[in-house]
Amino acid sequence: MTIVVTGATGQLGHLVVEHLLRRGADPQDVVATGRDVTKAADLEQRGVRVEQADYSDAARMRAVLEGADRVLLVSGSEVGQRVPQHTTAVEAARDAGVGLLVYTSITHADSSPMQLAQEHRATEQLVRDAGLPWVFLRNGWYLENYTPQIPTYLETGAVVGAAGDGKVSGATRSDYADAAAAVLLADDVTPGTVHELGGPAFTLADLAATVADASGSQVVYRDLPPAELTSVLEGAGLPAPVASMLADSDEGIARGDLEVPTADLERLIGRRPEAMEDVVRAAVAALRAASPA
Ligand SMILES: NC(=O)c1ccc[n+]([C@@H]2O[C@H](COP(=O)([O-])OP(=O)(O)OC[C@H]3O[C@@H](n4cnc5c(N)ncnc54)[C@H](OP(=O)(O)O)[C@@H]3O)[C@@H](O)[C@H]2O)c1
Repeated sequence: MTIVVTGATGQLGHLVVEHLLRRGADPQDVVATGRDVTKAADLEQRGVRVEQADYSDAARMRAVLEGADRVLLVSGSEVGQRVPQHTTAVEAARDAGVGLLVYTSITHADSSPMQLAQEHRATEQLVRDAGLPWVFLRNGWYLENYTPQIPTYLETGAVVGAAGDGKVSGATRSDYADAAAAVLLADDVTPGTVHELGGPAFTLADLAATVADASGSQVVYRDLPPAELTSVLEGAGLPAPVASMLADSDEGIARGDLEVPTADLERLIGRRPEAMEDVVRAAVAALRAASPA
């Protein structure tokens, strides 16, 4: 069985290939694709076939996907450009006769009012319309959206957001990647299945309290109106569209747009997903080890 993992030059896709190998896939059955294939050199060394392919290059995508039994289409990283890019990639998968297309979407993509959900909703629709067998992995927030900010939380004594007391079902990239690997290798995949994936839900106040507890420093959650959060993020140097998108995502958390039960993720990976508390404690311990007081 040939499995193609797109986005394997990025963080999630690379982890998917690692989990495929850990779950026993023959490296020769796995094809890892991306644009900058230098980032997949380690996979090539492990026997995985690495192929350069841009979603926008229809002929190249078709050539790379020809003969593939299962394909993971990792959503592109250029927000605003994803619908045309995904359209070309999905049409290439259809024309190449791919046996199953697995797409990494977003929580509640069909109904979420979040800005970020729009391109995923459009992509899900074009996959449904393409007429090939599909599975949607509606990945929730990565815990890694927060962990790199722990030094800032400690420096400023605050987690700043606009999520109110809404909950986010965050999980590690590695757990989402393991779920994708499980689907790509499963004997009993049911086409047309939607998996809503996320870890144990927490509020941003829970996040602040965990950072405080793990570090012994005072860290509180400071809730701002979305417009004010946008200004703060712009003031910190983020481009205006990114700041506005992050504030919009926090509004989504406040509404519950990124909250799901853990059951789907737990079932696919066969264990409990890593919880925010454990991941934050490990990140704080790693910071301590890197610069002991
Ligand atoms: N759930 C969340 O919290 C969350 C957060 C951020 C992003 N996301 C979404 O999840 C995706 C995967 O996350 P990640 O952390 O792995 O992101 P990442 O590290 O930025 O990786 C993105 C991957 O997509 C590839 N890619 C982007 N545009 C492409 C194109 N036009 N043609 C071919 N390949 C293309 C990149 O290839 P090259 O690097 O080789 O160019 C890279 O391999 C992101 O792209 C984004 O859609 C989700």
